[in-house]
Amino acid sequence: MLRPCRLLLWQVVLRLSYHVVTASLCLGGSDIFASVKENSPTGQFISNISISGDAGANAVKLCLTGGNAGWFYLEGRTIRLNTSVSRVLDREVQGSVLIAELTCYEDDVMQSQFRILVEILNENDNRPNFLQDMVQSFTITELTAVNSVVFTVKAVDADGDMITYIIDQSSPDAWFFRIDLPNSGNIVLNKPLDYETRPHLELIIWAQESHTKEKFNTSAVLTVNIEDGDDQYPHFLPCTPVSPSVPVCMSPTYTTNITHKHQDVVLEFSPGPIRAEDGDRGINAPLIYSILSGDDRGRFVINNSTGEFRLTRAVDDRRITPNFTLNVMVCQVDDRLKYSLASVVVRVLYENMFPPVFNRTTFKGFIIQSSSPASIVSTYGNQVLQVQVSDHDFSDGLNPNIHYSLHPPSGLYQVTQRGVLIARTDQLHAFDRHILQVMARDEESGEEVSASVDIEVLQRGQAVPSGAFTEQHMFGEVDGRVAGGIAAMILMMFLSALAFLLLRTMKRQRLQRDPEEHAAVALEKCPNVVNPSRPVFSLDDSLYNNQAFSHHYESSLQSDSLHGRQGVYTRKLSLLHPPSSSSSTIIITDPTDRSRPALHLLSSSSHTLSDQTLEESD
Ligand SMILES: *[C@@H]1O[C@H](CO)[C@@H](O)[C@H](O)[C@H]1NC(C)=O
Ligand SMILES: *[C@@H]1O[C@H](CO)[C@@H](O)[C@H](O)[C@H]1NC(C)=O
Ligand SMILES: *[C@@H]1O[C@H](CO)[C@@H](O)[C@H](O)[C@H]1NC(C)=O
Ligand SMILES: *[C@@H]1O[C@H](CO)[C@@H](O)[C@H](O)[C@H]1NC(C)=O
Ligand SMILES: *[C@@H]1O[C@H](CO)[C@@H](O)[C@H](O)[C@H]1NC(C)=O
Ligand SMILES: *[C@@H]1O[C@H](CO)[C@@H](O)[C@H](O)[C@H]1NC(C)=O
Ligand SMILES: *[C@@H]1O[C@H](CO)[C@@H](O)[C@H](O)[C@H]1NC(C)=O
Ligand SMILES: *[C@@H]1O[C@H](CO)[C@@H](O)[C@H](O)[C@H]1NC(C)=O
Repeated sequence: MLRPCRLLLWQVVLRLSYHVVTASLCLGGSDIFASVKENSPTGQFISNISISGDAGANAVKLCLTGGNAGWFYLEGRTIRLNTSVSRVLDREVQGSVLIAELTCYEDDVMQSQFRILVEILNENDNRPNFLQDMVQSFTITELTAVNSVVFTVKAVDADGDMITYIIDQSSPDAWFFRIDLPNSGNIVLNKPLDYETRPHLELIIWAQESHTKEKFNTSAVLTVNIEDGDDQYPHFLPCTPVSPSVPVCMSPTYTTNITHKHQDVVLEFSPGPIRAEDGDRGINAPLIYSILSGDDRGRFVINNSTGEFRLTRAVDDRRITPNFTLNVMVCQVDDRLKYSLASVVVRVLYENMFPPVFNRTTFKGFIIQSSSPASIVSTYGNQVLQVQVSDHDFSDGLNPNIHYSLHPPSGLYQVTQRGVLIARTDQLHAFDRHILQVMARDEESGEEVSASVDIEVLQRGQAVPSGAFTEQHMFGEVDGRVAGGIAAMILMMFLSALAFLLLRTMKRQRLQRDPEEHAAVALEKCPNVVNPSRPVFSLDDSLYNNQAFSHHYESSLQSDSLHGRQGVYTRKLSLLHPPSSSSSTIIITDPTDRSRPALHLLSSSSHTLSDQTLEESD
């Protein structure tokens, strides 16, 4: 507004002067209004001067003065532009108007003065430029809402052109942002940010002239730093991602082993230790640990700041609590709703300082050939052969984790989990000899031991040797001379034993005539159970031979409940006679192992355990 006003003013002034100098040769002049493009070359025509005075009268002299006079020169009655290579007319520098005066002298006396007003016409000779402080790195939090304006960029164009902003789609993180209003420079968040996967973003922004022919443009590389926001939950370490594409941690199960000896100790786990970290690594909020369940009334405590896991009370009985399963929780101190859970399994193991051992390397077993499908292998003295290991880690020497097996498995024999061997009697031949290997494996520690069993198949009616002494020491370690004497001695012994047995058999037959006494006979702890004509297995022996068995039967025996019961643990009369006369269905069980009925069989055995007997044991 200012300039048009001034122009008006000058015109008034000039009109006045015109009237003053009407008589002058400098008459005919007027103010000059012209325009010139910026960047025009030197000599560019600006305007003709309308002074009509006769130049030839040589009294008229024209002169350019005023602030911008240097931009012009006179060539006759023509005003031209004076520029040079180093002095280019630039509207952006010079402003939009050049102002000068044209003074007309006549005989060195100033007659009139005219204003020269030259507008500099704009040319698009400038590119847009980003303002430096508008394209420095930006910092925004990852919690920034999508669709909100995250920052604004600004570029300027010296020519005053309108600018359009464009996100270069080839820049790596372009898809996180968009521009809704192209001329505003407001950058809008297009996708949720995640500090954990991309803490820094980079994008290229173009600023381009909207309406010019040239559409000059410029670009800037922007760095956007993402600030960690509290959007992640804590997780237990080590973190196992659900899958490579889903970076969610699966909680580990921390396991450890203890024995009853552990007390007031810090437990070490596998994987270990029990640790968690905040998912927001940039924040790393303080965490607090706690046991949610399974601490068994304070038996286990956790340090709420370190996760240190402590056993306070020793485990009294492993049999009651073979393991403990606890749930632990970790949460952020500042936000308890951000939490994670994990399981802790504490296995209570037997103290394992001693390996299980067999009492001997070779066990001796006997089996008497018979037609019954199965019989229990006995050892010297017609006792049940129990191939068992003892383990000094246990006060009673019995490790309940021992598993017995035959190696290699045999088609003729089986071993029960109490170390009792069962033979398929009907497939054996008298005078056969079988060497078996029994493996005992501690299922908990993995320790293994083995022993061999040397089993002799005796023929029907043959007696089981009463001791290893007679067999081994007599003939094994004495020399020939002594052997003769010993043989004679044995012969003597055998004869006297025969006489003794004969007497007993007679006595027995007398007893058997009285049926009332059957049960009593069985329960009597008599040595007479060795009936040379009968199968080897004697329950009388096994009763007293075997702890577990006697334990279970003791009570019933003490209460005399077996006495007088039909079919319970009796010797049948008929069994003293040829086998054909009697057959009854029975189950032979490993007397030491109630849980495992070993074999059902039809038997003519004289020593039978009826179903009733088994029920009794339960
Ligand atoms: C200026 O004057 C010159 C001669 O003096 C003439 O040739 C030219 O055409 C004039 N230009 C204008 C725009 O009147
Ligand atoms: C043009 O301008 C330059 C620098 O201002 C000056 O030296 C020169 O004399 C001028 N040329 C004319 C023809 O007036
Ligand atoms: C910027 O200008 C150049 C030419 O000067 C052109 O090749 C380019 O495509 C332009 N960029 C944009 C985003 O228009
Ligand atoms: C716990 O004992 C078992 C064997 O019973 C073993 O396999 C496991 O590695 C032990 N765990 C630790 C943490 O020692
Ligand atoms: C937890 O552990 C820290 C560091 O070892 C210890 O300073 C703090 O006393 C412990 N807290 C408890 C309750 O034992
Ligand atoms: C952690 O345990 C200590 C001692 O038991 C207690 O004083 C403290 O308040 C607990 N910290 C938190 C955050 O609960
Ligand atoms: C823990 O003991 C229970 C029986 O008490 C068993 O069912 C479970 O499988 C055991 N767990 C582990 C991990 O050993
Ligand atoms: C093994 O021998 C020891 C004594 O040496 C005895 O106490 C234990 O009962 C025997 N165990 C078996 C299964 O025979």
